[in-house]
Amino acid sequence: MYDYGTFSFESKAQVLEQAKKYWNPDKTQFWTDAGVDLVIDRRDGYFLWDMDGRRLIDMHLNGGTYNLGHRNPEIMAALVDGMQRFDVGNHHFPSVARTALAQRLVDSAPASITKVAFGSGGGEAIDIALKSARHATQRRKIVSIAKGYHGHTGLAVVAGDDRFSTLFLSDRPDEFVQVPFNDLGAMEEALDLGRELDEEVVNVGGGAQVYADALAHATDQVLTEVDLAPEGDTHYPEFDEVEWHETRRERHPDHDPAYEIRWLERR
Ligand SMILES: Cc1ncc(COP(=O)(O)O)c(C=O)c1O
Repeated sequence: MYDYGTFSFESKAQVLEQAKKYWNPDKTQFWTDAGVDLVIDRRDGYFLWDMDGRRLIDMHLNGGTYNLGHRNPEIMAALVDGMQRFDVGNHHFPSVARTALAQRLVDSAPASITKVAFGSGGGEAIDIALKSARHATQRRKIVSIAKGYHGHTGLAVVAGDDRFSTLFLSDRPDEFVQVPFNDLGAMEEALDLGRELDEEVVNVGGGAQVYADALAHATDQVLTEVDLAPEGDTHYPEFDEVEWHETRRERHPDHDPAYEIRWLERR
């Protein structure tokens, strides 16, 4: 008998059986077929204990605890402490906790980030990013790398592997273009497609290599230049200012650090 307080199981076999029956049949079967009979019980720091009592080091490093460790005491204390006073609240009204957290996040972020949108997880964060890009640019087309995983939510699932987008009848190849990983030719083709359809323009957001690959095709740049020289080996690509015409500049000298946003058009 495994007693977990509000619920219990007779055996590990019973958990596997009920997981398949009520919740996650394919993945449970996949691990069973692969000979991985792991059902995680106790967790602590970087250790896991299987229901059979085997202690394992968690080297998955993915999906939530990778930089914090399992049941990190500081996190647990903050959660328990917070629940003494707060619950999820009511999202129609201003919230003391959300406001305080938003302020802490903005203070710790690059200067160009001045607002926070809270999301429930990774997929929703991707959705918010894509919606924000579309709202800001009033353009629809999104280019993503094939076989990536961005979540199962509305837009994230469309930008990801087509085995999930087609499964949910969510694929939209007219708006969501995919190119293979590390295939510059395919990326160039996707960007050219964007230019052919005059109002359907492709928006590119880093990293450094993607910017470098895309810059030769870009007709517009929106640059946030922060008055900082942080250490690091990843940089926005060099470009010749002579080839670009600045249409607008927004200065934020009172912000710490100061920054400017520049809108450039290719001459
Ligand atoms: C790279 C990446 N993006 C997005 C997600 C989706 O996150 P969530 O499951 O919190 O929606 C995941 C989840 O594994 C992920 O690994």
